[in-house]
Amino acid sequence: MRVKKAIFPVGGLGTRFLPATKALPKEMLPVVDKPLIQYAVEEASAAGITEFIFVTGRNKTAIEDHFDHSTELESVLTAKGKHDALKLVQEMMREPGSVSYVRQQEPAGLGHAVWCARNLVGDEPVAILLADDLIKGPSALQEMISAYEGGNMVAVMDVDPSETAAYGIITAGKDDGRQIEVKDVIEKPAPDKAPSNLAVVGRYIIEPQLFEQLGTQDEGAGGEIQLTDSLAARIGKAPFTAMRFSGTRFDCGSKLGFLQANIAFALDRADLSDDLRQWLKDADLG
Ligand code: G1P
Repeated sequence: MRVKKAIFPVGGLGTRFLPATKALPKEMLPVVDKPLIQYAVEEASAAGITEFIFVTGRNKTAIEDHFDHSTELESVLTAKGKHDALKLVQEMMREPGSVSYVRQQEPAGLGHAVWCARNLVGDEPVAILLADDLIKGPSALQEMISAYEGGNMVAVMDVDPSETAAYGIITAGKDDGRQIEVKDVIEKPAPDKAPSNLAVVGRYIIEPQLFEQLGTQDEGAGGEIQLTDSLAARIGKAPFTAMRFSGTRFDCGSKLGFLQANIAFALDRADLSDDLRQWLKDADLG
């Protein structure tokens, strides 16, 4: 089923990365030389998404600027004959009118952020990408869209059983190794309460009916309006599937995951990999 719109919730405060995120949106933190949000947008584009909806907040204007022309920069690069850099900043531009912004006026949770985009989505399924979850390899969203036949879908991966309190955790039904029927999902259960160690990673496709559910504004874990709770409430009314994606996910909401992502992505870059690999071998880091 065709999915052409995607929501990018980018209103979070990024407190785990202070002081870096005091004035800089956390989604603008770079992995090597590209902001996290650009990776998410590129993954969505690779999956055929043509309409990009950002749910922003105060202090997030750097994201809007990033996806707009920088006329001064472009004229300097042109004048100096820096064609590669010019191509880089021009090629990342989206078609005029394909990017919209709506503000989440208060940090009331992921479910609330998604609900804020309802009028821009209308009556069709929509993808959601959390830029903190950086996925290296084939577009996870593309894998999901190829298999999507309606209802709700989440990406999942196995996590260490000690880490369940950081994720939405599913109860699995029928499992063909790639797609799993979701019988239940709960937000951030303690390890002794977790039904499995299959954790939701920040990629979703939701049916339009989910917005009505989100509109009830029921608070869940952490006093926030949770997307997970609305997904759970739709079980039995709409199909709910989890997808094991084939890429590698980095938790760029954590410092360790962010550092690991930088190393993994740099090792894949022709201009950096040899020197970095050599340095990692030679340096007495331990
Ligand atoms: C959010 C979701 C959670 C999901 C996670 C994936 O939590 O609420 O269900 O497992 O993203 O990264 P957050 O990390 O924003 O606390």
